[in-house]
Amino acid sequence: MKNWIKVAAVSDIPTNGGACVKVADLQIAIFNFSKENRWFATQNLCPHKKEMVLSRGLIGSDQNRPKVACPFHKKTFSLEDGSCLSGEDYTIQTYPVKIENEMVFVEV
Ligand code: FES
Repeated sequence: MKNWIKVAAVSDIPTNGGACVKVADLQIAIFNFSKENRWFATQNLCPHKKEMVLSRGLIGSDQNRPKVACPFHKKTFSLEDGSCLSGEDYTIQTYPVKIENEMVFVEV
């Protein structure tokens, strides 16, 4: 069963950047894509070398698709559907995000 979990205050997440939150044993990367006024959440684990780093990745757009680049080897992932945009056979988990009363909620 899925639930909306309050994970952070909006002010905790850098603008045009990300931060990691923990939900039980899950590490989730929250991204404040403030340039486009959108929020995203993905697993924090980069599937390439199994590093917990995606929240520290650079976010941007690839042909209008929001993406994050892993800070280690720059593999990039769609923030919308988790697909790998750099040509490898990886997929990351994405989660719905909503903002209410200046708080960030993730559906897990
Ligand atoms: S660990 Fe993320 S690209 Fe290598």
